Amino acid sequence: MTQNTSLQLPSPVLMDMSLTRALGRRRSERTFAAQPVDPAILAAVLWACAGQNDACGKRTVPTARDLRSVDAYVFDERGVFLYHPDTNTLEKLAGEDARAATTTGQPFVAEAPVSVVFIGDNVKAQPLSEPMRERCLALDAGCMMQSALLACAAMGLSAVARASCPQQAPCRAAGLDENRYVVLGAVTLGFPA
Ligand SMILES: Cc1cc2nc3c(=O)[nH]c(=O)nc-3n(C[C@H](O)[C@H](O)[C@H](O)COP(=O)(O)O)c2cc1C
Repeated sequence: MTQNTSLQLPSPVLMDMSLTRALGRRRSERTFAAQPVDPAILAAVLWACAGQNDACGKRTVPTARDLRSVDAYVFDERGVFLYHPDTNTLEKLAGEDARAATTTGQPFVAEAPVSVVFIGDNVKAQPLSEPMRERCLALDAGCMMQSALLACAAMGLSAVARASCPQQAPCRAAGLDENRYVVLGAVTLGFPA
């Protein structure tokens, strides 16, 4: 069995645009420059949507019962990665470009530099019973997606939230058990075209 490698991300760039301006700029964009996203900018997007903001491991986003059941997975041309907020690292889960696996039919997704896919873990969410579990996983992901979108707006990136993300293909690409993990949505991002 091959061991997953980890990539250390640099410190996130400081996002010093006012919240008022970032909210004023946010818009869904679906065209992107081919230019890759700098690691420090990607680190800032990931910190905004799934990062830690204290030493106890609490997140930048609220999460139902503080279960932190939803994680951010990066799909880019290098492969598929799981973001670990405690170490600011990307754990490599696959070495093939699987960006196309994250859409049910929007062609721009396969070419856009990055899709951050939000995937819930039903085992971590076990303390919640249905229908609350399904609702809270979706709401956790929604909070994360808006945080990612605001970070993108603050850094001049183009971005779009997507619910049109299939369940099976991203899990397969990431090597996740489709019966345990649930794909909740994605934010596709890059520099403006
Ligand atoms: C829950 C949700 C799901 C969405 N799914 C998609 C999607 O699958 N594909 C897409 O291109 N845009 C998607 N969008 C973006 C919306 O189409 C967009 O927010 C809406 O048209 C309003 O435009 P604006 O974001 O530029 O204000 C989604 C937005 C939300 C909030």
